[in-house]
Amino acid sequence: MASNWTPDGWKSREARHLPTYGDADKLGEVEATLTRFPPLVFAGEARALKHDLAEVAAGRGFLLQGGDCAESFAEFHPDNIRDTFRVLLQMAVVMTFASKQPVVKVGRMAGQFAKPRSSPVEKLGDRELPSYLGDIVNGIEFDDAARVNDPERMIRAYSQSAATLNLLRAFANGGYANLRQVHQWTLDHIGRSPWAKKFSDTADRISEALDFMQACGIDPATVPQLQGTSFYTSHEALLLQYEEALTRRDSLTGDWYDCSAHMLWIGDRTRFEGSAHVEFLRGVGNPIGMKCGPSLEPDGLLRMLDTLNPGREAGRITLISRFGHDKVEDGLPKLVRAVKREGHPVVWSCDPMHGNVIKSDSGYKTRPFDRILGEVRGFFAVHRAEGTHAGGIHIEMTGQDVTECTGGAVAITDEALADRYHTHCDPRLNAAQSIELAFLLADMLNLEATDRTRQAA
Ligand code: PEP
Ligand code: CO
Repeated sequence: MASNWTPDGWKSREARHLPTYGDADKLGEVEATLTRFPPLVFAGEARALKHDLAEVAAGRGFLLQGGDCAESFAEFHPDNIRDTFRVLLQMAVVMTFASKQPVVKVGRMAGQFAKPRSSPVEKLGDRELPSYLGDIVNGIEFDDAARVNDPERMIRAYSQSAATLNLLRAFANGGYANLRQVHQWTLDHIGRSPWAKKFSDTADRISEALDFMQACGIDPATVPQLQGTSFYTSHEALLLQYEEALTRRDSLTGDWYDCSAHMLWIGDRTRFEGSAHVEFLRGVGNPIGMKCGPSLEPDGLLRMLDTLNPGREAGRITLISRFGHDKVEDGLPKLVRAVKREGHPVVWSCDPMHGNVIKSDSGYKTRPFDRILGEVRGFFAVHRAEGTHAGGIHIEMTGQDVTECTGGAVAITDEALADRYHTHCDPRLNAAQSIELAFLLADMLNLEATDRTRQAA
């Protein structure tokens, strides 16, 4: 357990990107209410994820983490949750089938509400208002009332997270994720993509393998791993007032856990030495992610690892690099080498989204799909060259047929962005683009496996 740590110790540190609330009494009441609410996840589940991630850190698995940039109250619908879950399952199946490695599935779901913004204000014409900070803080509508920070929104975010998590647990273990359903997972709107055919071929082969196993006496109905799946939740631990209120002491071990999600991460903007966010996450036992961007130097990273994981526990830390397609091969190797030299057991994951944002000619914030794939290729190339395991992918995606990122096999043009641009923050991959990415990842994982076999021979 971390020394000299209390759940509210972050309050004496420098906090960036935290909202201020005008009504301190109301904030206090909301925090007290949340403190009495049930935890959303249990410490034992967070430890199970840590165990799975320790396997990934050791090179025996791959982390798939994805979901909305920002969940919203407006897009809260069971079909949206199902479709995102389903695309993550499809991606996991494609990667597991190709690489023969387990894929650890973690949603950016059931709590991913608070957003750090590059500017504290937003301008429209000659009007200026405070920026939108995520539905858990204020509203996206461009008017004075919506942009007031309202603590009551935390209660609504909690209840939406609870309902989302409840449905995810049902999907994961109630029959939907049974591998026998693999054909049923196909979405209508990936039907137009050439990758739909490829997915259906993979599904055929999985069904055949299941038939074979059944003939050998291994009945999928009695093997829990084939009937359901483990699915975990995660979000950026940005709104510390909310995170603190959901932090509980585990009755089994006496350790503190942030029970708002299984895994929490520190964003690129709040990751600095002495930050309130680092101080908070240092003391909770959950698996922790940390975004690593171009501003991070090897020495700073090593000091951060000593702070967050002094016991060098495997599975505790996932380093999520987000350099940009043109910077990853310059910036990442020195970090990878430093971590390897010091023997820190981390999962290296690639966020190919946040370093690849551009403004399109039509005025939309977008991410060209080829740049996203370019960063993934660069990430794998670096790990191949350094002899380390490319351990995961962190993406903003949705199961919906949105038009937010340009490109892909069903090419989304600049002009088409306006058709279905629904995100509450950054542009997401749609279902077809996500599946296409999964096949690229499968190829990359196979290359890595071939290397290893060659080295072992
Ligand atoms: C995010 O993951 O939504 C995000 C804001 O990323 P980063 O902190 O890497 O910019
Ligand atoms: Co984002």
